[in-house]
Amino acid sequence: MTTLQPCVPTSTLTRFILQQERRFPSASGELSDLLNSISLGTKMIAQLVATAGFRGLQGYTGKTNVQGEATQKLDEESDKILHELLGSSGHFGLLVSEERDTVQVASEGTAHAKYVVAFDPLDGSSNLGSNIPVGTIFSIWRKRSNARPAAIEDFYQSGRNLVAAGYTVYGAKTSFVYSSGQGVHGFTLDPTIGEFILTEEEIRSPERGKTYSVNEGNALAWDAQVGDFVAQLKSEDKKRGTPYAARYVGSLVADFDRNLKRGGVFLYPADKKNANGKLRLLYECMPLAYIAEQAGGRAIDGKRNVLDIVPSDIHERCPFIVGSKYEVDWFESLRR
Ligand code: AHG
Ligand code: MN
Ligand code: MN
Repeated sequence: MTTLQPCVPTSTLTRFILQQERRFPSASGELSDLLNSISLGTKMIAQLVATAGFRGLQGYTGKTNVQGEATQKLDEESDKILHELLGSSGHFGLLVSEERDTVQVASEGTAHAKYVVAFDPLDGSSNLGSNIPVGTIFSIWRKRSNARPAAIEDFYQSGRNLVAAGYTVYGAKTSFVYSSGQGVHGFTLDPTIGEFILTEEEIRSPERGKTYSVNEGNALAWDAQVGDFVAQLKSEDKKRGTPYAARYVGSLVADFDRNLKRGGVFLYPADKKNANGKLRLLYECMPLAYIAEQAGGRAIDGKRNVLDIVPSDIHERCPFIVGSKYEVDWFESLRR
């Protein structure tokens, strides 16, 4: 009988971030501090999600957010945690959250704060209450000018200017996946010591996958390109390697995480009901497009690479087709 070897986790997220920082001798250490603040916030949110059922945190607040969606208590609590932690880090000037109508000035954001951050504090909220994975998504930009305090136009930068982005999944395990432009790295929370441990260094997406993720309930509203693509994915074609398997959780982070690691494609396209799709550019599409591209995949809005889009509103929506290069190219080839 093999005994579980006690493992001394030597590569924690905290250490990994500092190792990445040491590659840049001029680094001030602020980004490391920010990423560690975000990681701390996600550990707190993981705890909230796991215990909401007996802490009176299940269910709706009775309010609707700027998106016109009913907010859940956990949306609000997760949003508060990130505002307090990131706002007090001293490095962020402004914060954008899915749950707040306007940009928020960081509580301790000084005029010298170099960064702005946008986040979806809790993605997949419609799955709360049933034990389906949800997560948090974040994007970090440097201010466009250090000669002034952060301003809303610091959020109107393309994803090419992202300094770092990442997401967590609160599921059977709590995972933290991020990139600061030097590859994509995955960590797993060891709750016994409260540290994220490096479990997947340099994640690379397979060239192609075998699964597709889309809400087929919207099929009647799809345009011809989406309809043709999904029909081809479902067809019997040995040469092309179809049919693919359908996998759709309803939590973007969960679908994205599976496709990132095993290959496949996720679509929340524009359709007759939603001219710009449903997902938000700043804190859902851009950060995940950044991660996908860093791992060798692709993300388009149907016409453009998502990372080339310059936002003009902090809550603007964006059609989103993201995943392995082969499938995204295939979708693009069907454009009429
Ligand atoms: P959020 O919970 O932050 O509003 O995001 C929900 C998003 C995304 O997580 C998921 O992929 C998508 O909504 C599911 O939308 P449908 O239920 O319309 O398929
Ligand atoms: Mn979301
Ligand atoms: Mn959300």
